[in-house]
Amino acid sequence: MLGNFSYCNPTKLYFGEDSLNYLNTELPRYGKNVVLIYGGGSIKKNGIYDDVMSILKENEKNVAEIQGVMPNPTVDKLYEGVKIARDHKADLLLAVGGGSVCDYAKAVSVSVNCEEDPWEKYYLRFEEPECETLPVGCVLTMVGTGSEMNAGAVITNHGTKQKIGHVFADEKIMPRFSILNPRYTLTLPHYQMVAGIYDIFNHICEQYFSGKDDNTSDYISEGLMRSVLHASRIANKDPQDYEARSNLMWTATWALNTLISRGKTTDWMVHMLGQSVGAYTDATHGMTLAAVSLPYYRYILPYGVEKFKQFAVNVWDVDPAGKSEEEVAREGLKGMENWMKELGLVMNLKDLGVTEEMIEGIAKGTLIMEGGYKVLKLEEIVEILKESLQGN
Ligand code: NZQ
Ligand code: ZN
Repeated sequence: MLGNFSYCNPTKLYFGEDSLNYLNTELPRYGKNVVLIYGGGSIKKNGIYDDVMSILKENEKNVAEIQGVMPNPTVDKLYEGVKIARDHKADLLLAVGGGSVCDYAKAVSVSVNCEEDPWEKYYLRFEEPECETLPVGCVLTMVGTGSEMNAGAVITNHGTKQKIGHVFADEKIMPRFSILNPRYTLTLPHYQMVAGIYDIFNHICEQYFSGKDDNTSDYISEGLMRSVLHASRIANKDPQDYEARSNLMWTATWALNTLISRGKTTDWMVHMLGQSVGAYTDATHGMTLAAVSLPYYRYILPYGVEKFKQFAVNVWDVDPAGKSEEEVAREGLKGMENWMKELGLVMNLKDLGVTEEMIEGIAKGTLIMEGGYKVLKLEEIVEILKESLQGN
């Protein structure tokens, strides 16, 4: 392990079937004015809304609502929410939903007392908040992003065709508490469940495929990946399997709560490609990652072949005997491809509505990261996207 780092994650987690009761423990810590933030209505159908509301009432909170936070929340929706939170003099932002709702709450948190335009400040200039921010609490209903225990907030601007994530440096932007009840995820449509599963897996890959040192973080990653594979196969056959769904919920949290990136550089190019695809198509986040992953990993494999071999052996149980390093490495990716197909993930960009004409714009909108095995040039990004359009 070669890197120097600090590690602090202050989010308090309550996990399990009874976890919502702990909202009663948390609410008294904050002032009277709560803004309840949620999406397009799933929490009203499955009863979570009523349960949360009754706890808010019991605790005598004065509640305003921001409803209709869409998947891939937009900057216009952010402006709307900032106004509601300001008018309500919010003491706590309570997000009830998936990554979109949790991310959105964090974006509102850093914007309520900000005098500048939050899109320009946080998403174009990547500055940190200088103003007072609001505490965020989270009741998670969709598994994948890790937003419940990190300081990331992704916002989409349809006007400029940009989808940008800001991972805030200050851990006070992380949710103060998150309630993780795996049972809440059982009403997710299969498409969302598998998109979330691939999101988890890819978060781990993004932090795993970098560096050549012997690093404890990579061994933790391999264990998490094995758990995702095992649980995902069970959940894919029986989405109501509580044990599998609870393991997926827990791996998702650990996949992106800053632990497994300690002491390492990180890649994140699949996410940069996926986010630019998202800006053009508004497609489901995990599916955008699935569609570009294999062409990307096949392309960078020669630059990090040792790690791809380790991935093949330790995650996909490839027997290395009598094979070249590259053969073993490619067998690992084959294992990953088979698993992705088994889950029914979207394997090409065409199925997400991408056309040949969009490729140049998507490539130009892709932020180029420098922590992985290969710093891509624009023409290489175009090639990878074209291959992703053909399918795998
Ligand atoms: O809006 P509702 O009606 O609630 O429906 C949602 C939404 O349509 C539905 N859903 C959620 N929980 C449900 C449910 N339906 C039935 N039963 C339930 N229990 O699922 C749909 C997708 O929800 P969303 O929150 O959009 O999904 P996800 O959790 O994948 O979040 C995606 C957003 O997070 C960002 C993505 O870019 C995207 O904007 N990310 C955030 C990250 C972070 N904070 O670190 C990292 C990720 O890489 C990602 O970029
Ligand atoms: Zn992701």
